[in-house]
Amino acid sequence: MPDFLELSDIDSGVLRQILEQARSMKDARAGRPRGMPDDVQPLGGAVAALIFEKPSTRTRLSFDVGVRQLGGQPIVLSGQDLQIGRGESIGDTAKVMSRYADMAMIRTFGAETVQEFASNSDIPVINGLTDSSHPCQIMADVMTFEEIVGPIEGRRVVWLGAGSNVCNSFVEAAGQFGFDLVFSGPEQMKPDAPCMKFARSKGRSVEVETDPVAAVAGADLIVTDAWHSMHDDPGTKEKSQGLLGRYQVNERLMEAAGKKAIFMHCLPAHRGEEVTSEVIDGNRSAVFDEAENRLHVQKAIMRWCLNL
Ligand code: CP
Ligand code: NVA
Repeated sequence: MPDFLELSDIDSGVLRQILEQARSMKDARAGRPRGMPDDVQPLGGAVAALIFEKPSTRTRLSFDVGVRQLGGQPIVLSGQDLQIGRGESIGDTAKVMSRYADMAMIRTFGAETVQEFASNSDIPVINGLTDSSHPCQIMADVMTFEEIVGPIEGRRVVWLGAGSNVCNSFVEAAGQFGFDLVFSGPEQMKPDAPCMKFARSKGRSVEVETDPVAAVAGADLIVTDAWHSMHDDPGTKEKSQGLLGRYQVNERLMEAAGKKAIFMHCLPAHRGEEVTSEVIDGNRSAVFDEAENRLHVQKAIMRWCLNL
């Protein structure tokens, strides 16, 4: 059974199919209480182990609720609850978990931890964020853009600020969903080179434009993320804030972008740092739709992983 580890690993037709299923499951639930199960219960009691080695609000809630809506049983575990917190190997943990659970979602630090977990598992594994990627988030973001604006193919997406894990997955999505991406931030905070190479190998333009005003011109979507991610060294916060100040998404940049641009942020946000309250709480912001769509798209990802 397949894993959902990186957007670049998965066939673009499969990613599209997952989005279509997410949309149809979302439509089928319109207006129902979140706690009410779906009419179709494909998980049929299957157990999903949800492992968090970093904090989470959206990923934790949306996977937990999503598993329940599909008729499965979530078990949420923190790294400290597990023996990995005391040094048990990832490989042994994965082998043991494969004897109890039907699938696993893991949020951790290095991408190699997820890879090692998956290669030692007999069950499908979903990447719930690493230091270098966040594929579930970008699936929700593409779904959200298409609900609000229309097909993302051929659009101009502008990423402002630090080239984070979320940014890396956005760049890979450019290759998979056929949009062009402009990164505008300090040169030393660019997205990872293999992600840019992947998108370019699929014929997409990935531009680096250090001037934020020039970058946003003609944008269909402006995206940013926290300037300081969970894995970043707290000692570097002040320095990075100094470098990133001019990339704050504010009214001036939204105006420079033009009328059609909408705004996205994976959350949690830091108002007054990477984005102003006027923008994130304004009428061009899609942030809570993105958060909701995590639920719908991850349900479709789980069904794909389990072939249900
Ligand atoms: N966007 C996102 O993944 O949020 P959490 O860290 O709250 O899960
Ligand atoms: N880049 C952020 C995303 C949080 C969902 C982090 O890793 O902290």
